[in-house]
Amino acid sequence: MNTSPDDKARRVRGMFDSLAPTYDLLNTLMTFRRHKAWRRFAVKRMRLPEGGCALDVCAGTGDFAIELARAVGPKGFVAGVDFSLPMLALGQKKVAGRRCPVEMILGDALRLSFPDNTFDGVAVGWGLRNVSDIPQAVSEMSRVVRPGGCVASLDLSRPTRFPFKHLYHLLYFSKIVPLMGQMIHGNRDHYAYLPESLQTFPTETEQSQIMASAGLRDIQILPLTFGVVSVVMGWKE
Ligand SMILES: C[S@@+](CC[C@H](N)C(=O)[O-])C[C@H]1O[C@@H](n2cnc3c(N)ncnc32)[C@H](O)[C@@H]1O
Repeated sequence: MNTSPDDKARRVRGMFDSLAPTYDLLNTLMTFRRHKAWRRFAVKRMRLPEGGCALDVCAGTGDFAIELARAVGPKGFVAGVDFSLPMLALGQKKVAGRRCPVEMILGDALRLSFPDNTFDGVAVGWGLRNVSDIPQAVSEMSRVVRPGGCVASLDLSRPTRFPFKHLYHLLYFSKIVPLMGQMIHGNRDHYAYLPESLQTFPTETEQSQIMASAGLRDIQILPLTFGVVSVVMGWKE
């Protein structure tokens, strides 16, 4: 995407505004329902204290926030931040139905409206690839997590093993995913954006360097399901 940061933010917000009604269904179909298990894995690794507070950045329809809420329990608190009102509104409905201690908040990942050292853990799911300034988003997540707390990003990765790598890239990701988007959402372009966005997304090693520059330590890279997605996580000193 050869556009300015503001153009990218506008395009991404517009895209998720329009994708919102079919987002959860397509997410479930495209990941063969694995997306919930991947989030659960990441949250478990974050070692959140019961009764603690956590933040979901780029929260979308709230699935990561719900998983964080399970971890901190009824005495905890979770905030979910997203800049797409339609995504957030769906998330709001989901968390209200479950009586989770979750508040969904309209906001920008690049300018979080929380004081320094607020949260026990901060998660972002399939979000960093979509923000217009990844180091700024990571620096904001690191700013609002308390010392000793964890920042975790779960996002698409690049499988490297033959023949899975070729099947995944050439067939599934470049052909089947846009086709599913066309059939269910009625717009092939939004799902053609997925492989495009992965091309310019930093590798996990580069992401871990960005985390280190933002003051995070003990960084771990955890590939899941043949490296289709990875969790990159670190702890604030
Ligand atoms: C692929 S969705 C992920 C939703 C959710 N995290 C999940 O696990 O399903 C990406 C989300 O990032 C949001 N987003 C992208 N850039 C953002 C920004 N700068 N500030 C806040 N939200 C942003 C989009 O609106 C969208 O809801």
